[in-house]
Amino acid sequence: KDNDRGDRASRSSCNSKATMIVVSNRLPFILKRDENGVLQRKASAGGLVTAVAPVVIRGQGNWVGWPGIHLEDPNEKIPESDPNDKTPTAGLRSEKIVPIRAEPKLFDSYYNGCCNGTFWPLFHSMPDRATFIADHWKAYIKINEEFAEKTVHALHLLNKQKKDKNGSPPIVWVHDYHLMLAANWIRQRAEEDEIKCKLAFFLHIPFPPWDIFRLFPWSDEVLQGILGCDMVGFHIEDYCLNFIDCCQRNLGCRVDRKNLLVELGDRTICVRPLPIGVPYERFVQLAQNAKPVFSTSQKVILGVDRLDYTKGLVHRLKAFERLLEKHPEHIEKVVLLQISVPSRTDVKEYQDLKEEMDQLVGRINGRFTTPNWSPIRYIYGCVGQDELAAFYRDAAVALVTPLRDGMNLVAKEFVACQINKPPGVLIVSPFAGAGEMMHEALICNPYELDDAAEVIHRALIMPEDERTVRMNHLRRREQLNDVDSWMKAFLKAMDSLEEEADDLGAT
Ligand code: G6P
Repeated sequence: KDNDRGDRASRSSCNSKATMIVVSNRLPFILKRDENGVLQRKASAGGLVTAVAPVVIRGQGNWVGWPGIHLEDPNEKIPESDPNDKTPTAGLRSEKIVPIRAEPKLFDSYYNGCCNGTFWPLFHSMPDRATFIADHWKAYIKINEEFAEKTVHALHLLNKQKKDKNGSPPIVWVHDYHLMLAANWIRQRAEEDEIKCKLAFFLHIPFPPWDIFRLFPWSDEVLQGILGCDMVGFHIEDYCLNFIDCCQRNLGCRVDRKNLLVELGDRTICVRPLPIGVPYERFVQLAQNAKPVFSTSQKVILGVDRLDYTKGLVHRLKAFERLLEKHPEHIEKVVLLQISVPSRTDVKEYQDLKEEMDQLVGRINGRFTTPNWSPIRYIYGCVGQDELAAFYRDAAVALVTPLRDGMNLVAKEFVACQINKPPGVLIVSPFAGAGEMMHEALICNPYELDDAAEVIHRALIMPEDERTVRMNHLRRREQLNDVDSWMKAFLKAMDSLEEEADDLGAT
């Protein structure tokens, strides 16, 4: 099955010259001011950017997004990239960047309020953590309108420049839960102005089941916003089916679960599972070149996460504590290295989690530390790509145990970097999209602490042969289904839209 998917992707009829406008909350770099107040780009090293930016650059398209800083002067220009910048966004000329300039308070209500305070917990099936505040929703609407406005403007410019008026229309690709309303307005405005485009949406987080989704007071509007697209992508089929269910039950749409289609008015919307991958070969290279970082003979159990309550970090530390209680033979033999990357530090839930983690690390270390050893090494900060690759390469076990996660790329980056022989062991939660397809990993329910402790124990004592067989399979799959193959699968799905629309069958 996996081979099949890899082959299909490489044979795909993907139109690599497609003109694409990407619309995402963040631009593929952030802007910072240097000591003289001059704006500078700080490139993002993320896998998505690696795959998408070259397509945008090749087709001379645009990227619409927030630069990570509030630009007060409306005429201030986006700087070009640094001449030494070798990252994939370096070729993205400033004239092709469409920055969102919003009033800071409004943007805060949209981003920290509605996106991170409401949609993030709700879509991760944690409704008790979600706030439902009308003013945040109003800000969300306004900012989505702003994104739509800027995108339509970019479409107009592209349309003017276009020499071949009969060529394929540009693709507008809207990303993630920040922008679930934008597509519908882009469609309406483009239709009014008689500009052709194909619209797609991709959600990078889970789409929740109907009984969770409908808790959101304005859930119909969200669905209508997304259904403004021609194609809607999710990581896995479960999320596609949740979405289709919501369209049927909230809006009364006619749907086809077998072919993953939704009908709204006279339009048919294709829903597709498009599981994202990582830049596999890049990680292999990083792992080959990175210097060793662990100066310890102890086995390292590794966790790498944004500091986020969906990642199950508190559960993870408690499971590790349980391991030391139940299997004291690991005392002084293993360490847990947990890297927690600061995230959304303006949101109270995240500040509280930081406190809780600091205390828990202190308590567990206080309980088990001996004169020569401490069980947990805790890094609260960012780690460079080279160092990260060395951590991934030299760890004996990787713990990827979120309570809920759209996909989780750490699991995939870890296996890409596992070039040592014999390799380490991946432990993954079934509640991450990655857990759906990484069958040879050890599966661990993070809520069940005793079992989680046993799974870690099993990973630590797993024979070399078994580790090798499991890791070989995992690596092969990620190599075939890397982020470029995801990009090709997306373009192929966009290419075949017309045929799919004719297919709406039984409901
Ligand atoms: C998740 C989301 C992304 C987001 C990232 C970091 O992966 O799917 O859209 O960019 O988290 O969060 P932040 O709030 O810092 O953009």
